[in-house]
Amino acid sequence: MPVESTEQTQEELILGFLSESGSDYTSGEALSGKLGLSRAALWKRMEALRTQGYRIEAVPSRGYRLVSVPDRLTSLEVSPLLSTRELGRAIHHHDSVGSTNEVAFRLAQDGAEHGEVVVAEQQTAGKGRRGRVWVSPPGLNLYFSAILRPELPPQRAPELTLVAAVALAETLRDWGTDAAIKWPNDVHLDGLKVAGILTELSAEPERVHFVVVGVGVNLNSRTEHFPEELRSMATSLSLATGKPVPRARFAAALWTRLEEWLDRYLEDGFDAVRARWKALSSTLGQDVLVRTDRQELRGVAEDIDPSGALLVRTVGGSLERVLAGDVEQLRPRKPRAG
Ligand code: BTN
Repeated sequence: MPVESTEQTQEELILGFLSESGSDYTSGEALSGKLGLSRAALWKRMEALRTQGYRIEAVPSRGYRLVSVPDRLTSLEVSPLLSTRELGRAIHHHDSVGSTNEVAFRLAQDGAEHGEVVVAEQQTAGKGRRGRVWVSPPGLNLYFSAILRPELPPQRAPELTLVAAVALAETLRDWGTDAAIKWPNDVHLDGLKVAGILTELSAEPERVHFVVVGVGVNLNSRTEHFPEELRSMATSLSLATGKPVPRARFAAALWTRLEEWLDRYLEDGFDAVRARWKALSSTLGQDVLVRTDRQELRGVAEDIDPSGALLVRTVGGSLERVLAGDVEQLRPRKPRAG
């Protein structure tokens, strides 16, 4: 159920043609001809693009030239960079929402298809795990929720969080970092949290209806964008690399990775994901303090089991299986993966 209108598709085509020409001009006549639009209709679409932040130069008798594009996450910016089959092919873009997970959940209840993505420039009530808030200032970072409709029994749905964590860590590594996964689903750079995942599920006992995988990645936040109490724990990709991050390019790269890992997971099962997760993990082999709703455990994080639960060898020698909780790593360690 794509949300984009015909006008949007025409705008995408215009941008595609202008991008192809690079710094050369494309004549209005040629554009009108390719799009089957009158010159007046073409002018209207150009104005619509300009109001969205595209700088398009128009020179009489030469034509149009794309000078710069806005740093936004609409399908106009992301779609041309995307090489997925389904994920992100329909993008529901919002300037501001409470939580993209909530918007995605409602869309999925109303029948949205596998792969549709809700993305926002800002969240006013971004949700973190365990009732926490995900700080989501406007125009800097990536906040999105993907609607998935996998054929899985509900008890296997948590594995999807690990699938997303692997895709996230790999994408951040492609950006020149040594991103590591902290169980269950935090991604860290140099021991500081850069991204988190919140997976929500609608299911009946035997069957998943849909899963909403919500991902927040701090891309361009600077220290002052984090509340005081998070500053010693959080970072952004640009703080780590010293360079601004083009958000549409990052989103397209991440969604492409995510679809690749989802395909692998749905075809071959969880084993390959688990192996990659372990290689990217900074948690395994660590002395940890685990806080669950019911208890605190201290021990060594030995492994994750075939369903993604953390196995902790406690000080008393027993092996405990932790399905959900917070892990404090008492001595941070680099992951093994290269
Ligand atoms: C965590 O580490 O606590 C999970 C954070 C998940 C944040 C993302 S941002 C996009 C999506 N919408 C939300 O409200 N939360 C997730």
